[in-house]
Amino acid sequence: MDYRSDGLDEADLAATPYDQLTRWIEQARAAGVHAAEAPEGLALAFATVDADGAPNVRTVLMRFLDARGPGFVTDSGSTKAAEIAGESRVAASLGWPELFRVVRFRGVAEPVESATLTQYWGTRPWGSRISAWASHQSQPIGGRAELEARFEEYAAKFPDRGRPDDVPVPLSWAGFRIRPVEMEFWAGRAGRLHDRIVYRATTSDPLPLLDAPDGWSVSRRQP
Ligand SMILES: Cc1cc2nc3c(=O)[nH]c(=O)nc-3n(C[C@H](O)[C@H](O)[C@H](O)COP(=O)(O)O)c2cc1C
Repeated sequence: MDYRSDGLDEADLAATPYDQLTRWIEQARAAGVHAAEAPEGLALAFATVDADGAPNVRTVLMRFLDARGPGFVTDSGSTKAAEIAGESRVAASLGWPELFRVVRFRGVAEPVESATLTQYWGTRPWGSRISAWASHQSQPIGGRAELEARFEEYAAKFPDRGRPDDVPVPLSWAGFRIRPVEMEFWAGRAGRLHDRIVYRATTSDPLPLLDAPDGWSVSRRQP
């Protein structure tokens, strides 16, 4: 199959990686290739390394996006949280295969502040808030029946009153944001002569905001 995207030319590149990222998200939304209400529904492949340096990757949904970077929610007891605690350098990718486009992130994970997490918690459906209480993410469990029994236990404890605060926020409720050091925009082109444009942070401490025009240098990589 030949790739037929419009490509990505330096002349058309947005001034900042934030503008380029939101432009591609908007275009994907307009093309109908992901859920209408971005960033909800954008699946990130999110990679960490374990204590031995072995890589690990899983899918998370991008729930937050601002000039600091993309963020997601998770369980502070999960494997990914433990791996971030040991090595905060992470990577992620976000792709729209239908558009022959992928964005790659390399950067540093930082915790999402609790006010943002609490506010988002209240927007979750009741059942998924109960599940967050019932599940100790990434820990082993004997069988599904045990998990369902725990769900019923918390469902009885925190009944659905149709309110954002009917289920308290569990202590394990957590979120991480990726502060990019580098973002690569890949656009598939005919004959496999693809475009790869890279924004690289010009400072590391502090890392620039994604919408800082002076914070990023731009270069091109061979496909
Ligand atoms: C489409 C999709 C979306 C997911 N979104 C999340 C998410 O936002 N947060 C999360 O912790 N896990 C999410 N998961 C589950 C993760 O992929 C993973 O199984 C889980 O986080 C445990 O990973 P860990 O053991 O490496 O910490 C999602 C899975 C899929 C398939």
